Amino acid sequence: MNALEVEGLVKRFGGLAALDGASFAVPAGSITGLIGPNGAGKSTAFATIAGFHRPDAGHVRLFGREVTGESPWALHAAGLARTFQIPRLFARLTVRENLMVAARDQAGERLPAPWFARARIAREEAALAARADAVLARLNLARHADAPASALSGGQKKLVELGRALMSGARVILLDEPAAGVNRTLLREIAATIARLNREEGITFLVIEHDLDLVAELCTPVHCMAEGRVIASGRMEEVRADPMVAEAYLGMAIEPA
Ligand SMILES: Nc1ncnc2c1ncn2[C@@H]1O[C@H](COP(=O)(O)OP(=O)(O)OP(=O)(O)O)[C@@H](O)[C@H]1O
Ligand SMILES: [Mg+2]
Repeated sequence: MNALEVEGLVKRFGGLAALDGASFAVPAGSITGLIGPNGAGKSTAFATIAGFHRPDAGHVRLFGREVTGESPWALHAAGLARTFQIPRLFARLTVRENLMVAARDQAGERLPAPWFARARIAREEAALAARADAVLARLNLARHADAPASALSGGQKKLVELGRALMSGARVILLDEPAAGVNRTLLREIAATIARLNREEGITFLVIEHDLDLVAELCTPVHCMAEGRVIASGRMEEVRADPMVAEAYLGMAIEPA
């Protein structure tokens, strides 16, 4: 069973095909890697899978169900969450509130009129805060719960993004460069957290990452993208040994920043 199937996905921005027929699968229960040089289309694939972009062609299936073109809210409700390459937190809200908001986004429409339901809303807020604190404890961020999100380091913000995804109860989480700009210690912690959530809670992950050692450690299978397509798939050793992959990364090394 695949948690996600992407088939022939095309997304054009003007003349540029950021996705040019990308196809790959994410087995349920896996930590699947998505690698490839800068500009390969990885983040665009995430945005398109998660409903932020409408694809020009192709299909996305979530646990076998066609979800192509569904809204981010519908996909979120169906158990798919993503984090952003650049964390998108509410800077002035506390860390706890950032998590609470992530869960409330989903429940908001079902809330009854506040005038009739103050006591119930207060109870729900308290329950939500308790749930946020439990997630923060799992992420080793409990001591930062009352700090404004803006006070956190880049790596801690990445963890809060993961926390927001967990608050939604997601079964499939797309992580865009969880290790970028993170020090070695926090990187170990993030890797261990992803592995534990996968093992203990059965959450499926699709991880974009430029740190190939981390991908090798965490991810099977691994898909390598270049120029909007998947050019190699398999175990990391197989993908690494593929001459087309080496060539794609070579281009990245000599390209001006
Ligand atoms: N909203 C957009 N409008 C126009 N072009 C875009 C947009 N988003 C991405 N692109 C272009 O699409 C291509 C793929 O970008 P994308 O961000 O998906 O790459 P990536 O593989 O995530 O790269 P990186 O590793 O640097 O994050 C790039 O050429 C990029 O400039
Ligand atoms: Mg990207």
